[in-house]
This record gives sequence, C-alpha cells and structure tokens, in this order.
Amino acid sequence: MTISEKPQYDCIILNGTVVTAADVGCYDIAIKDGKIMLLAPTGYLASAPATRVIDAEGAYVMPGGIDAHVHLAEPPLFGKGRTADDYATGTKSAIAGGTTTIISFAPQDKSQSSLLGALDETSIKAANQAYCDYSFHLLVSNPTSQALDEFSILRERGISSIKIYMTYEALQLRDNQILDVLLKARTEGITTMIHAENGDVLNWMTKQLEDRSLLAPKYHATSRPQILETEATNRAIALGELIDTPILIVHVSSPSAAEVIRRAQTKGLPVYAETCPQYMILTRDDLDKPGFEGAKCVCSPPPREGAEDHEGIWAGLQNGTFTILSSDHCPFVFDDSENGKKAAITAEFPQGHFKYIPNGCPGVETRLALTLSANRLTPQKFVELTSSNPAKIYGLYPQKGALIPGLSDADLTIWYPSSTLDPFPIQNSTLHHNVDYTPYEGKMVSQWPRYTLIRGEVVWDRDNGGVVGKKGYGQFVKRDRSSLSSSNSSPWNIENF
Ligand SMILES: *[C@@H]1O[C@H](CO)[C@@H](O)[C@H](O)[C@H]1NC(C)=O
Ligand SMILES: *[C@@H]1O[C@H](CO)[C@@H](O)[C@H](O)[C@H]1NC(C)=O
Ligand SMILES: [Zn+2]
Repeated sequence: MTISEKPQYDCIILNGTVVTAADVGCYDIAIKDGKIMLLAPTGYLASAPATRVIDAEGAYVMPGGIDAHVHLAEPPLFGKGRTADDYATGTKSAIAGGTTTIISFAPQDKSQSSLLGALDETSIKAANQAYCDYSFHLLVSNPTSQALDEFSILRERGISSIKIYMTYEALQLRDNQILDVLLKARTEGITTMIHAENGDVLNWMTKQLEDRSLLAPKYHATSRPQILETEATNRAIALGELIDTPILIVHVSSPSAAEVIRRAQTKGLPVYAETCPQYMILTRDDLDKPGFEGAKCVCSPPPREGAEDHEGIWAGLQNGTFTILSSDHCPFVFDDSENGKKAAITAEFPQGHFKYIPNGCPGVETRLALTLSANRLTPQKFVELTSSNPAKIYGLYPQKGALIPGLSDADLTIWYPSSTLDPFPIQNSTLHHNVDYTPYEGKMVSQWPRYTLIRGEVVWDRDNGGVVGKKGYGQFVKRDRSSLSSSNSSPWNIENF
C-alpha cells in the first residue's frame, strides 16, 4: 500500500457468526463511513485493506441492542425519589452491556399544558452527554387540546411514540383522556405505549394493607396483584380497539395479562407487548429480604410469584406474544434517604412504608447478557426481541436493528466465542451505572458483550480498556412511524358504531 492509498474500509469484522432476526450465517462484515457496507462469506474479506480489523473468532455478531424503555434524569414524578442515572452514566452503562441505542422518556408535568417544553428540557439534558444513540418517547400526563395538537410537531421532530399511564396520581389518565390520546395518535401515526395497572384498585388495596399496618417492602407486591394488571391490559386493549390504533403494553409481568394480549393479537388487533428480564428472573421473595433490602427489587408491576409465572413470560417471548424485551431501567440509589430507596424510611415510618419506595430497578447494562445466558431463545429470536422489533415498532428500522448494506448504521454487539468465557456472577462493582446495587447480584451469566460498536466506532472493548467511547458521541436519532402493522387506512368514523 502506498502512502496516498486510503484503506478501502474503516473497519472489518472477520469470522463472525452473524445473527439477524431472519438468519444466522458465517460472514465477514465491512464498515465504511459509519454504515454497514458489505456482508460476505467468511474468508472473503480476510485480506481486505481496513483501518481496523476485529476477529470475532466465530462468536455471535449482532445488530446492536436497542433498549426502548430507559428512565434517565427524570424529575421525581412518582412521589419520592430521583432517577440516579443521567444521560452520561445511563448510556455508558448501556454500551458496556451491548446496547447501542436507547429510547428514554421526556416527561410532561401535569402542570404543563404543552408537550414541547418537556421535549426541549429533555433534549438539553441529553445533548453532548450520551455514549450511545438515543431518542425520546413523550410521556403525556396532561392531554390538553394544545398537547394533542402538538402531536404533529412531535412527528416533525422525529418523535413517533408516546407513553401514558393508567396509574400513579401524578400521571394517571382517565379512560376518556386515553381515548383522546389514542384518536390523535392514530391520525398522526404515533404508537401509544401504555402502563397498564388499575390505579384506583391499587390505592384501595394499599389502604387495606395500611389499615392492618402491613408496610414492609414485600407488601408492594401484595398491593398490586396480577388481576389488576390483567384488568387494565384488557381495558387498554378495548380502548385501542375502539379507536383502531396500535398500542404497546409496556413491562408486562403477568402471564394472565399476556394471555389477554395473545387473544387480541389472534383477533388481528394491532396490540404489541413488552416484557423485561425482572419478570423472568425475580420473584416476590426478592422483596422479602431481611431488613429493608427488599426495596431494591421494588418495581411496578412487581416481580411475580415464582417459576410458573416466569415460564409463562418465556412462553410469550418464544411464541411471539411479546414484541420487544426492554430493561425498564429506572435507577434509584438504595442507601440514600433523600432521593433513593431509603427515602421511604421516615420518622413516621421508621421501618419504611412500601408506598413511598421509589419504583424501579437498574437493568440497562444486564438486559442482554442475562437474557442470552438463559439460553431459552434462538439467537434470531433474541435479536428480534432486543433489537430488530424495537427498531421496527419505534420507526428506526432499517437504520437500526438490521445489518443491511448501505442502509444500516454499523451498530454491532460482538459476543465471546462459545465456551471461552467461564460463567461468572454479576456484580454491582463491575457495572457502570450510578447506582449502589444491582438486583441481579450473584446471578450467573455465561456471556457478555466483548465489543460494542456504534456507527463503526468501537465504544466498548471489554478486554482492552472497557468503555473506550466518548461522552457526547451518541446522537439523537429521528424516528419515523412504526413499520409494524397499524390502523385501518380509512379515517376513524363515529358513524361506524
Ligand atoms: C403463547 O404465550 C402466551 C403468553 O404466555 C400464552 O398465553 C399462550 O397460550 C401461548 N400460545 C401458544 C400457542 O403457545
Ligand atoms: C456499585 O457500582 C457502581 C458502578 O460501578 C459504583 O459506583 C458503586 O460504588 C457500587 N456500589 C457498591 C455498594 O458496590
Ligand atoms: Zn418505565
């Protein structure tokens, strides 16, 4: 090579077992200008000129993980607690776990009548901070006519999804408000994510527990039994059917809610669903640890009763009931009596009160390794649930979630060759979040991402420097409408009823 000759490729990845949602095969991959340029049979690129060469040594090479449910730098909307990770620490944790794009939330406060302030404030928090690419779901808590009119502006600004809540005083919408949101979302080509738990019932359950002074962390689970999730899921589906518009039920924890979703899908309704590792791994016993330890695993919906529930969730992942697998990373420091889990311990409640425990667990870094290590999904299904489908439903495909030459960003997660990594326990101290614990401490994994690449740049190199990406490298990505099936094409018409 002479001095003037530029290498043909910026990076090549040799000897990969390349996995997409459709296929597994032995390929070399060439990258140029941040994009996938070429996939060729193994060996084909062995001596191609490139600035950087990575030998995958037969390991899985996948489109980078997309985590479509991440809470970062949010104000205390749910009562006590402040999300411990900001856009820097949360996205650093993401890349160390093989995730190349996150979608977090821009939360509208109930006192705001517009959505655009929330979008601007969140954009400022993320600007020049992120280690991975990102977008926002608009969290709609006050669907004023102004807010609804702004849905078209959200689309212009590359936001094609919103999230609403059927619980939490500060966020809960009534059914008529949900219908307003769904109808406007239908018109503008927006996917509506719904947190489905019946807020009124859970307040009533909480009162029953308080009357009996049952306040320990484990009663968080008692206050929110499966039926309250199943009821709300059923109601959300009915409201979505009335408007004929796509909805996605977030963080489904209960097999009975999954069954309701499955039935709707079988009817041909555009109903999608998400679950999270906590619902395949944790149980309500994790909330019943000595002292206040159980608070670490308090999230909503709560971890369910046991193995049978976990099996139901795995079945739904395997058989297509679940469209995506996200983390619902919602980090609170445990040992912090101001903004963390221990804020629930007060003079009035010296043993703590479950109602005041900030809801959420960290998990953006552990999502992929825990799920792949469980060995319950084919590698294609794993890619579909953790990367391709999130890209499709949230309008990022095929820029993200695919390896299509010329079209897809060179976002990749490269694992270790099989059986070269001894199984090891997850330990908080090796993670990159800004939290003082992981709910998965001691859980064994047999895999971990060895390299993470974003737009052709190596940002995580586990054996040589760890996080090698730079703060601020992550970019906001504009999103289009969902490419999964959506509403009937004719306009919604009250006279059809
Ligand atoms: C698929 O999984 C769902 C959720 O667990 C379950 O309700 C349903 O029975 C399963 N369907 C089939 C055909 O296995
Ligand atoms: C947990 O891990 C984080 C990230 O490495 C670290 O900052 C924190 O000190 C750890 N806390 C404990 C109690 O191990
Ligand atoms: Zn959430």
